[in-house]
Amino acid sequence: MIIEAIITTMDEAGVVNFAPMGVEWGDDRIVVKPFLETTTFRNLRDTGVAVINLTDDIMLFARAAISSPQYPAIPAVRVRGVVLEAACSWRELEVRHIDATPPRSRIDTAVVHSGARREFIGFNRARNAVLETAIVATRTHLIPAAEIRADVARLQIIVDKTAGDREHEAMALLTDHIEGKLAAIANAQGTGG
Ligand SMILES: Cc1cc2nc3c(=O)[nH]c(=O)nc-3n(C[C@H](O)[C@H](O)[C@H](O)COP(=O)(O)O)c2cc1C
Repeated sequence: MIIEAIITTMDEAGVVNFAPMGVEWGDDRIVVKPFLETTTFRNLRDTGVAVINLTDDIMLFARAAISSPQYPAIPAVRVRGVVLEAACSWRELEVRHIDATPPRSRIDTAVVHSGARREFIGFNRARNAVLETAIVATRTHLIPAAEIRADVARLQIIVDKTAGDREHEAMALLTDHIEGKLAAIANAQGTGG
């Protein structure tokens, strides 16, 4: 089963990277599958450790899907890394094996520590819809514009039915970003908006 998380990694100089990633879940073992061009892949390869943060704050997924934000964080316990301050719970990972076959790596890790910070209130339809929109936002170069707009319109209806302020805000951030990307693609192709 894939669980959507925010993975924190650090480069050798200590710069922290936050990225949404779906990881293959296990109690003792977690498999991370970053594409080879991601910072997450480079950091995992170079340092051999990461932290998987579980959170119900969908805005953190939205922002990290479309930019490289820095979020408040505290030091991890067992590995050289950080725990997201907004994490409900977290797992600290040590790399056991890396398969770097392009385009997407497969990194087997062992869970060496876990902890909890606050209650996980849960996901609802709006949060799931924002998560799906965040995925769409990372794939604007791969999917036809009409298909993207149809998907986003359908997801927006779910958000409008069940969102709180935070989910509305996250959805607006993503839809603005997606429209900006689609306009840039259309301009580059000379086909207008
Ligand atoms: C919910 C969600 C799950 C994602 N899962 C993955 C994944 O498993 N592997 C991956 O390479 N990118 C995944 N992405 C896309 C990355 O988060 C995105 O490419 C990010 O910019 C890569 O981050 P980095 O270069 O900072 O490591 C996912 C995005 C979202 C929104």
